[in-house]
Amino acid sequence: MSKEIIKLAKISKKFVGANKDIIVLKNINLKINSGELVSLTGPSGSGKSTLLHLIALLDQPTSGEVFFKKKSFSKSTEGEKDLVRRQGISIIYQQNNLLSDFTALENVTIPLVINGYNWKDATKKASKILSLVNLSKRLNHFSTELSGGEQQRVAVARALITEPDLILADEPTGSLDRKTANEIFSLFSKLKSKNRAILYATHNRELANKADYKLNILDGNITRKNA
Ligand SMILES: Nc1ncnc2c1ncn2[C@@H]1O[C@H](COP(=O)(O)OP(=O)(O)O)[C@@H](O)[C@H]1O
Ligand SMILES: [Mg+2]
Repeated sequence: MSKEIIKLAKISKKFVGANKDIIVLKNINLKINSGELVSLTGPSGSGKSTLLHLIALLDQPTSGEVFFKKKSFSKSTEGEKDLVRRQGISIIYQQNNLLSDFTALENVTIPLVINGYNWKDATKKASKILSLVNLSKRLNHFSTELSGGEQQRVAVARALITEPDLILADEPTGSLDRKTANEIFSLFSKLKSKNRAILYATHNRELANKADYKLNILDGNITRKNA
């Protein structure tokens, strides 16, 4: 059965500028349930990253409330939000996802160790997940020795290893060529699970249309469209 993962209630976000304030989000109401694969589109500067940061509890709305699994975070401490993020939310960025001084295997292992696993068990689980994204032959390569697509596959493996309820991706295929972008995207489709929601921002209309439905931001408002 699907569960509510995210709810935004009357969210507004304003950035205060030297000359002029920028209102990026205006009174947004939104729900995303487990099992859903959702794309987020909108012109550059429309607020996609801002929205993802609010949902990830990395930033605070100017007004309104963010709920994650039905809990409000308006009054939570940074420590409480950290814990929820560590266990329940993973984010994938366009670039610089990986720690360059560590191997692919270590990059994927570390989040589990932070969550209390011992290295041995964590490493075993990390190898399994890396083989799922076809990187068994790259375990001991440093991220600088991997192609852009391989790096993003490691980032996807790392996002998955903690079995989060929510995966957020901010233009994860933005720096990749078309074929590689499609490969990363098919991974998302494969990761679709009844226990998890995936929300990804993209400029690519073709990839946006492969979601269960699309959210589009324009002038601070969000509309939902069938993909
Ligand atoms: N920390 C900030 N301070 C001031 N303005 C910001 C800040 N972050 C984003 N903005 C502004 O908010 C708007 C939306 O930005 P962003 O969410 O990054 O858009 P997108 O990801 O869709 O390209 C832009 O006009 C941007 O300049
Ligand atoms: Mg952005």
